[in-house]
Amino acid sequence: MSTQTLKKIYSGKVRDLYELDAKRMLMVASDRLSAFDVVLPEPIADKGKILTQMALFWFRKLQHIMPNHLTGEEVTDVLPETQASIFAGRSMVVKKLVPLKIEAIVRGYLAGSGWQDYQRSGQICGITLPKGMQLAQKLPQAIFTPSSKAAVGDHDENITLTQCAELIGTDMLQEVEAKAIRLYQEAADYAYQKGIIIADTKFEFGLDEDGTLTLMDEVLTPDSSRFWASDQYQIGHNPPSFDKQFIRDWLSSSGWNKQPPAPVVPADVLRQTQNKYREALALLTDQNQG
Ligand SMILES: Nc1ncnc2c1ncn2[C@@H]1O[C@H](COP(=O)(O)OP(=O)(O)O)[C@@H](O)[C@H]1O
Ligand SMILES: [Mg+2]
Repeated sequence: MSTQTLKKIYSGKVRDLYELDAKRMLMVASDRLSAFDVVLPEPIADKGKILTQMALFWFRKLQHIMPNHLTGEEVTDVLPETQASIFAGRSMVVKKLVPLKIEAIVRGYLAGSGWQDYQRSGQICGITLPKGMQLAQKLPQAIFTPSSKAAVGDHDENITLTQCAELIGTDMLQEVEAKAIRLYQEAADYAYQKGIIIADTKFEFGLDEDGTLTLMDEVLTPDSSRFWASDQYQIGHNPPSFDKQFIRDWLSSSGWNKQPPAPVVPADVLRQTQNKYREALALLTDQNQG
């Protein structure tokens, strides 16, 4: 197979999908970083590799809960060496699934759009929460707060459980909710011991050929989750983002109007950001930092 015949089927903000054959795809994580919903002009070196290693770590750790989309093959098993080397470490060989039309968000803490919805209505996705909760407070228990998958360019929207049932069916909703909460809880408990609070996260699920519910996409990285350093956590305050704080602080102070294109970020800010991704991987997987 040559590069010309490797067909790109999708290019997202951060990742690219290639078709391998009718049943399999190659998911490649680039080094692109988006902040305030805009992709920065400069990549974060090795970010795609670091986040891929993190997702693979979680897929393995959580595989007793449910099947995932990994075929078990390496990129070197499916592409010739010259081509495989381009994608090595930053790609996953995955089963092509039929995606469910929702994003399975689980929240353990009150933040982001959940905090905004709570302030407005006392609820998130129709789930009533205790009165008087503060920003960043831990919820009495993790909750499943699905969103619709937005068309390209749109923002995903929180939906009620009733709307979710209309999209995927009541039985499927129950299965997805139970699995998503278990995945989140086990991961969050583990990460907490390592100094990282996973405040919330987004899972995606699909159905395989046999109709089996399967975990897909990437999981439990700072791209799909809100990571906080537990030693900086304070109820009532918006904790700094584990990975993007340096970038956001710099962009905010740069006077940029948050419309594309984003300004070029200084090299030291990029380096500090790269270090945060390395640190997150090292903390979670007990690797020495290198
Ligand atoms: N195993 C899979 N089968 C089918 N689709 C998948 C699978 N894993 C991930 N996807 C889809 O691939 C796309 C990955 O692209 P992504 O870079 O996340 O772009 P986006 O910016 O649209 O989220 C998503 O639409 C996701 O739902
Ligand atoms: Mg995505």
